[in-house]
Amino acid sequence: MTDLTPNPARAEAPAPLPPHAPLTDYYADEHARHQWVRKVFDDTAPDYNRIEWLMAFGSGPWYRRQALQRAGLGRGMRVLDVGTGTGLTAEQALQLIGEPTLLTGVDPSPGMLANARLPAGVTVLVGRAEKLPVTSASYDFLSMGFALRHVSDLAAVFAEFHRALRPGGTVCVLEISRPQGRTAQWLLRQYMRRVVPLLARVFGRTRDMPDLMRYYWDTIEACVPPEQVMAAMRAAGFTDVKRHVELGIFSEYTGRAAAR
Ligand SMILES: C[S@@+](CC[C@H](N)C(=O)[O-])C[C@H]1O[C@@H](n2cnc3c(N)ncnc32)[C@H](O)[C@@H]1O
Repeated sequence: MTDLTPNPARAEAPAPLPPHAPLTDYYADEHARHQWVRKVFDDTAPDYNRIEWLMAFGSGPWYRRQALQRAGLGRGMRVLDVGTGTGLTAEQALQLIGEPTLLTGVDPSPGMLANARLPAGVTVLVGRAEKLPVTSASYDFLSMGFALRHVSDLAAVFAEFHRALRPGGTVCVLEISRPQGRTAQWLLRQYMRRVVPLLARVFGRTRDMPDLMRYYWDTIEACVPPEQVMAAMRAAGFTDVKRHVELGIFSEYTGRAAAR
């Protein structure tokens, strides 16, 4: 007789939820995305801070600090900064918490981490948001600055964020979103696809920086809508999920890790 009882060991894993479909102008498929992203950040890392400064007219540190403060980051909190890169968000987190030993940064790109200027005491780890190299329930606050578009699975990432945070801890993801109106979309596209790659060509020292800047816009344009990001946060166990928007494009997603 055939046994029709479902075998839990054989139950299929939920389908991954990538933030955007593969961008095949840059890499062949979802499988190749991770390697491509790591290489492009490794190769362009020495230029990242300079081009980011030009692109944001020098407002990056101020904006990051304001956003972290709005999300409730304050003195004495233990922080995990994911996709820390050259440390631009981590530096601002440090200003607010006041103690380097409370801060941990994680990034898959050794090149980006090598260009970070974080003080002694900060823990820096190579790793990906999908599988964080940290123990569970060990942080009060988890930040991610402009890296969510580069992960491969939103469901896995938010599950990991929830695992890393203590119950009641706060997640704060900063990301650029496609603006609502057509004119605003056209203007931002011209800026990101033409002006910024030109700045990267003129002021950058690495060959691939203009490509990375074009890729930025393509990921913004292709990214799932904010409602889907928030739904993934709720599905992973975050409550009080909110999205604050600045200038129509800077999304700040926050949520609280519910008790397990
Ligand atoms: C645009 S940079 C942002 C760096 C920094 N957080 C900031 O605020 O400027 C994106 C970073 O995300 C990292 N990244 C790419 N894929 C990632 C992943 N799967 N998990 C975590 N970080 C990732 C890249 O290596 C890169 O350092």
